[in-house]
Amino acid sequence: MVMTDQSRPLTLTMTDEHDMLVQAVRDFAQREIVPIAEEFDESGDFPVDTVHKMGEMGLMGIEVPEEYGGAGMDTLAYALTMVEIAKADASHSTILSVNNSLYCNGILIFGTEEQKQEWVTPIASGEQVGAYSLTEPMSGSDAGTMASRAVLNEAGTHYIINGRKSWVTSGPVADRIVLFTMTDADEGHKGITAFLIETDKPGFIRGKKEPKLGIRASATSEIIFENYECPVENILGQVGQGFKIAMTVLDAGRIGIAAQALGIAEAAYEASLNYAREREAFGGPIGKFQMIQQKIADMKTRIEASRGLLYMAIQAKENTMADKGRYTTEASMAKLFCSETAAFVTDEAVQIHGGMGYSKEMPVERYYRDARITRIYEGTSEIQRMVIARNELGIR
Ligand code: CAA
Repeated sequence: MVMTDQSRPLTLTMTDEHDMLVQAVRDFAQREIVPIAEEFDESGDFPVDTVHKMGEMGLMGIEVPEEYGGAGMDTLAYALTMVEIAKADASHSTILSVNNSLYCNGILIFGTEEQKQEWVTPIASGEQVGAYSLTEPMSGSDAGTMASRAVLNEAGTHYIINGRKSWVTSGPVADRIVLFTMTDADEGHKGITAFLIETDKPGFIRGKKEPKLGIRASATSEIIFENYECPVENILGQVGQGFKIAMTVLDAGRIGIAAQALGIAEAAYEASLNYAREREAFGGPIGKFQMIQQKIADMKTRIEASRGLLYMAIQAKENTMADKGRYTTEASMAKLFCSETAAFVTDEAVQIHGGMGYSKEMPVERYYRDARITRIYEGTSEIQRMVIARNELGIR
């Protein structure tokens, strides 16, 4: 395995193109997403129009080469976009992250040329929505065990898929899905295969939509397969390679969630700064009190430490990808620290706002709820710690 040297200083460069992207995404997010975030959080509806606009801006396939409908940019561009969108509304950034890092990225790495053209282009261009389905009701953190099955038909032309998958981000609306299911249960994780699924075919059923605490405008549901016929051409990678594909893709996904968590934390921090300057108590702004100052100092320090780990993970990804190496530890450290920071910062933001922080009239209440999922999805904080420690110790 190619490892990165974490003692080397960061060499990431912010180009004019990155600056222009950040400005354009920030303007769009503040103008179009911020005004609707509260309404969609309340209703739980999928924000079709703004997702469509993100597609028109090239944000649904940021790292996808232009020949496959994407923006042809790099991982830094993707992370910067995630931060800006998450600052406006975490739900939009969840939709963006699954489309980019979990759906498009996997097909770009493991797909054939035909698969890239047919399966990436409509999703990266934002015409359609993509999803990634690994989790099942009885298989979450222990992703190598699953009850769903794909069985090759006698003619050898199709796999017949049966089973129930859960917690599928964009499941209620997705046009296409990268699905992981068992083709040989005797082989454990080596019996898992990845399939490319069209959702408008018989045997694909959208199940219960999850009533969630946060990121409520990002639709999440079960999906059910009942004798769904998937042609063998729609296998992604090799039969039995599914677990590796799922894990490889999650490394990239975890960088996206780290960026999302950073964006939520920044939004909560900036709201707290404003409030601490404006809210008066005991004859002056509450920002004059040392206990508020301590919170501000700790929030800011953890945010910048998070950004450092995020950039380290991006650099590790860019350094190792060319050699087909892994950046698993860096991605997990970034995801762990950024998501724990988002939890800390949003909690302190509610505290600084006092009663107003507990009210739906202020966005910090939403930031607090939205931050919670970042410590759970794409691998819990406990799983990230396990991954980091196993890699450091060299044991499994
Ligand atoms: N990249 C490539 N290969 C990897 C890998 C990685 N990051 N991690 C593990 N592998 C490979 C190993 O090298 C090993 O290969 P060999 O058998 O050939 O040696 C194989 O995968 C099995 O590895 P482990 O023995 O380490 O596997 P494990 O069963 O102990 O589990 C785990 C490892 C890290 C706990 C993993 O199961 C995991 O990440 N669990 C969390 C799952 C997760 O994040 N789920 C979220 C789903 S997506 C979501 O949240 C919803 C959404 O839509 C946003």
